Amino acid sequence: MPALVLLGAQWGDEGKGKATDLLGGSVDYVVRYQGGNNAGHTVVVGDQKYALHLLPSGILSPDCVPVIGNGVVVDPSVLLSELSGLNDRGVDTSKLLISGNAHIITPFNVTVDKVTERFLGKRKIGTTGRGIGPTYADKINRVGIRVQDLYDESILTQKVEAALDFKNQVLAKLYNRRAISVAQVVEELLGYADQIEGFVADTTLILNNALDEDKVVLFEGGQGTLLDIDHGTYPFVTSSNPTAGGACTGAGVGPTKISRVIGILKAYTTRVGAGPFPTELFDADGEALRRIGGERGVTTGRDRRCGWFDAVIARYATRVNGLTDFFLTKLDVLTGWEQIPVCVAYEIDGKRVEELPYSQTDFHHAKPVYENLPGWSEDITGAKSFSDLPKNAQAYVKALEEMSGAPISAIGVGPGRDETIQINSFL
Ligand code: GDP
Ligand code: IMO
Ligand code: MG
Repeated sequence: MPALVLLGAQWGDEGKGKATDLLGGSVDYVVRYQGGNNAGHTVVVGDQKYALHLLPSGILSPDCVPVIGNGVVVDPSVLLSELSGLNDRGVDTSKLLISGNAHIITPFNVTVDKVTERFLGKRKIGTTGRGIGPTYADKINRVGIRVQDLYDESILTQKVEAALDFKNQVLAKLYNRRAISVAQVVEELLGYADQIEGFVADTTLILNNALDEDKVVLFEGGQGTLLDIDHGTYPFVTSSNPTAGGACTGAGVGPTKISRVIGILKAYTTRVGAGPFPTELFDADGEALRRIGGERGVTTGRDRRCGWFDAVIARYATRVNGLTDFFLTKLDVLTGWEQIPVCVAYEIDGKRVEELPYSQTDFHHAKPVYENLPGWSEDITGAKSFSDLPKNAQAYVKALEEMSGAPISAIGVGPGRDETIQINSFL
């Protein structure tokens, strides 16, 4: 039962799409288990570049079945446009499976996301504005709309009524917006039903049967560990569980089935949106990381905040996910620095702290304690094995591995599928 979880070890955008695509050729199923089209996963295959938001990155591997699990929130309009965009480029999307239990991002939840952010003003989260938070809130509040509801008009109407009863009051009275019409929402949602029906399936049954037959299943996380609703930098987080446990609840597979948990770890750190970020740089180094690393959001086009590698965060990701491996990405971006600072601990109110503080106040006060590692100037994008790397790059990787608490089993030296140094096999 080889079930692997692949997830972000930092604040997202670590290169999960590339890593998933790399494995896609050797696995039978790739499953998204949480999040929605807030994700932006870039995959480069030869001279073709794909930006995926909702669809699992495995969709680009012809023999792999892509699955959208019950834990995902699905915006049907985005789903259909992403599918047609891929079809236009000759990608076969017919194998896609979508859980009937996945929740639907309704147009009114996109509206609520945007007005809430506007209302929060300076305290805003900096969400992607895709309706993610309000849709998960409806799910937990038990007024959500699920994919299966599209196939029962009467139930759908009742559920949209229940959801809008309260929301329309808030929209009109608090936010001074026009109330949303139940009939209009129902009509729009019903318009998607036929187009999606062929993909809807009992995905937990299919995945568990596949595991019983020794098929390989890869669970692809969106976002990252520090954006997790429980384990991240709350409230500056997304509204789901990108951490490893989320794969079980978000796909209906028991924890005993998971054999490997791979953390995707950028060789430096980035973050999009608001929230604490101890190693953030506001100088020329930060600007250089952004420029060389191409650190601009795939979903919202926002510049990503950039900073040095933070080993405290990596250790934390190892702990809360039970990581068995790391995939270190974007090592090539660090080429050219004479010295590379790495955060090994924090100083909080005059005390050295080795682990991520559980108190948010403490984390806001955390100052990075840096160790400088010697850099390298040689181009490493063509490196095929660990020994091809310059000595200082090897030492940088080894130092990160030692500080982070799990073996680095692969290293990314460029965006392409083959620009990867594989040290230990993932399968
Ligand atoms: P994801 O959200 O975790 O899938 O990551 P994104 O796609 O948002 O951002 C990662 C970016 O880095 C993408 O543009 C990738 O093409 C690129 N990338 C991934 N791995 C590497 C690598 O090892 N080196 C370089 N230079 N780029 C990489
Ligand atoms: P991938 O999968 C980076 C961030 C947003 C915001 C916070 C909440 O590409 O790594 P949301 O719209 O989810 O309610 O926004 O989470 N965020 C991401 N940051 N990568 C992502 O996805 C993200 N998805 C959400 O910027 O700070
Ligand atoms: Mg991304």
